[in-house]
Amino acid sequence: METKEKRPVIFSGIQPSGMLTLGNYIGALRRFSELQDQYDCIYCVVDEHAITVRQNPADLRRRCLELTALYLASGLDPQKSILYCQSHVSAHAELAWILNCFTYMGELNRMTQFKDKSAKHADNINAGLFTYPVLMAADILLYQTSYVPVGADQKQHLELTRDIAQRFNGVYGDVFTVPEPLISKTGGRVMSLQEPERKMSKSDPEDTFISLIDDPDTIRRKIKRAVTDSESEIRFDPENKPGVSNLLNIISALTGESTDDICAGMAGQGYGALKTRVADCVIEALSPMQAEYKKLIADKEYLMKVQAESAEKAAYLAQKTLRKVQKKIGFAAR
Ligand code: TYM
Repeated sequence: METKEKRPVIFSGIQPSGMLTLGNYIGALRRFSELQDQYDCIYCVVDEHAITVRQNPADLRRRCLELTALYLASGLDPQKSILYCQSHVSAHAELAWILNCFTYMGELNRMTQFKDKSAKHADNINAGLFTYPVLMAADILLYQTSYVPVGADQKQHLELTRDIAQRFNGVYGDVFTVPEPLISKTGGRVMSLQEPERKMSKSDPEDTFISLIDDPDTIRRKIKRAVTDSESEIRFDPENKPGVSNLLNIISALTGESTDDICAGMAGQGYGALKTRVADCVIEALSPMQAEYKKLIADKEYLMKVQAESAEKAAYLAQKTLRKVQKKIGFAAR
């Protein structure tokens, strides 16, 4: 990478804390491969973030490989993009420690994800859960990232990352590139099929989300059961019709058609027809990736090779920033 002409860096990460959902796909994953020809892209399996919630070791190890396979199946090319596991590059944890000393308790206290997760895991409100956004800032800042493609739920973390970078640069000069989030207008927030006021999440019950490896029958069944409302008109109105609006948003994100055009095209039809259309779009979008995923997941050696080679490239880039930071703050030269 370092021999090519310098292009802006894209960085993003996904937690290997369960099989990904349609929300992860629409909000983040499907956009990753579109960026790899124009930018230097780095996509991380953020296993260190995942352990802020207790993980079964065998499951965690397996899911890191599964996520690597999904990255590849979504069209990411390891010759163009770096696809690695966070724990394979120790600079993440090292920079996170330093940035912890440039982050205020008050800032972390305001993070809505911390509040949500502490409510969900009241028996394990660990310090890692609290400082999670600092590790995320380290992930991003290590690579001099310009843009971070994420769903809308990560916006607050990105704002904190920018604040930390600017604070550090204010003291030591231009050490970090200050990154910007890339949040898509449609699909930045895919909602739960059962409680459309909440975001679709892999840690919620099965029937609230579409998993990226659900088969067509399961996808149809889950969408058929999706909560709508007692009216029958197909209208985009997130406040009064969150369920229907979520379904319209899913079609819009997957087809590129505006929600207005979708509604106009379906005028006079009922929710049954809308759900059939959603299911068709989702199945069409996921099928090619699922076929590719099935082949890739059977080849563990190849997946581990991609992880290892990518980690080497990532570590090289990360060390450059880490060394600079260590020098600036006055750590003894070795
Ligand atoms: P995670 O693993 O929860 O989600 C991965 C990506 O999927 C997006 N996403 C959604 N988008 C739309 N609708 C939804 N219902 C939905 N659910 C999830 C997320 O916004 C995210 O882009 N903290 C991050 C992981 C992370 C990271 C990073 C991201 C760690 N370090 C550095 C970017 C850069 C997280 O928990 O994502």
